[in-house]
Amino acid sequence: MPEGKGSVASMLTGFGNHHESEAVAGALPVGRNSPQRVPFGLYAEQLSATAFTAPRAENRRTWLYRMRPGAGHAPFRPYDGNPLLRSAPFAGVVPSPNRLRWNPAELPGQPTDFIDGLVTCVGNGDVAGVAGCGVHLYAANRSMENRAFVSADGEWLIVPQSGRLRIVTEMGVLDVSPLHIVLIPRGVRFRVELPDGAARGYVCENHGALFRLPDLGPIGSNGLANPRDFEAPVAVFEDVDRPCELIQKFQGRLWTTTLDHSPFDVVAWHGNVAPYRYDLTRFNTIGTVSYDHPDPSIFTVLTAPSDTPGTANIDFVIFPPRWMVAEDTFRPPWFHRNIMSEYMGLITGDYDAKAGGFAPGGGSLHNMMAAHGPDVASHDRAVAAALTPQKIEATMAFMFESRLPFVASDWAMATPLLQADYDECWAGFVKAQLPEGDA
Ligand SMILES: [Fe+2]
Repeated sequence: MPEGKGSVASMLTGFGNHHESEAVAGALPVGRNSPQRVPFGLYAEQLSATAFTAPRAENRRTWLYRMRPGAGHAPFRPYDGNPLLRSAPFAGVVPSPNRLRWNPAELPGQPTDFIDGLVTCVGNGDVAGVAGCGVHLYAANRSMENRAFVSADGEWLIVPQSGRLRIVTEMGVLDVSPLHIVLIPRGVRFRVELPDGAARGYVCENHGALFRLPDLGPIGSNGLANPRDFEAPVAVFEDVDRPCELIQKFQGRLWTTTLDHSPFDVVAWHGNVAPYRYDLTRFNTIGTVSYDHPDPSIFTVLTAPSDTPGTANIDFVIFPPRWMVAEDTFRPPWFHRNIMSEYMGLITGDYDAKAGGFAPGGGSLHNMMAAHGPDVASHDRAVAAALTPQKIEATMAFMFESRLPFVASDWAMATPLLQADYDECWAGFVKAQLPEGDA
């Protein structure tokens, strides 16, 4: 990596594990977190992702050993470069009960980095109440240069759709491609570089309790996303003394300040707050081998719980390639109305409940109790299909599913990307024919 010092050859593995890493031998204190003198005159700083007193199984914190304290910066001032990145509640916006679907955003025509290329599509809950999430879209064509970003509003689950990302964080570097996801903890500073020159994708900013792996219940000790497949970076740092803008998202607004050095000056760290990447193609997909199909919760990669058991603030769910073998079964997602609210995106391929209109990079919203399901063409094809084993291939759709209804932003309701004719995909179903004399 440019200017970085340390190894990026290997990754640390295991979701939520206590990791430790040092880019310079001997930089990591042993036996105590904050010795009177940290090796080499480094500064010890604790990053707490849960309350100090959270139960041990939930408790997350990491110790950073850095060249200068993170506290060394001037006051933040409002940042005007991106007025479209926001958090719920959105002032003055009336929530819509309608099914909504958007075409993919165009890549920007002007030079635009990851920060300025973000726009909030939907959000829910209340950022100040530490509940709900925001769904942001990014479309960028240049790397962040001498700029870093940090969100105090939540952890960022980044879902690339096109273009690779190189994400430089305080804990190290993550290289990711479409079909990977990245989780950046709340409060961790990061920079996004674009090796392919252009990139587009989705972000779920989780204001609530941290994402974790779902319990597996009767599935047993293996399956779905396995912990060992989550990879955290090893320590690497920049010893750079030139100005770096630090943009912070705080309570739904952006703020800026300028450091006189790189914020990526962490030489060693240990703890269980870390950024992770995960390759969605490693997901162990489980489904029926008899009839019907399980609820889509069977495809949950990560879940962020609420205070109500089994009722997530957000679930991150994928619809990966898989075999369909169910007998006497309508195999696509069925018609349904759901107390949970569903934002869907598509990374690649087709989604088996829609014959058209849902394109990679696009999105759809089916809010609390909105009736939805397959369109006419997908339905008619499914009821006529020969039910031989069939593989759905080369596809990856996903869902951010939440107990809290989503509200589309001003931008999302006004953009020409919003499809005016979405409801028509459920027009034209043939009426069921009852036997004569049963009326
Ligand atoms: Fe649905």
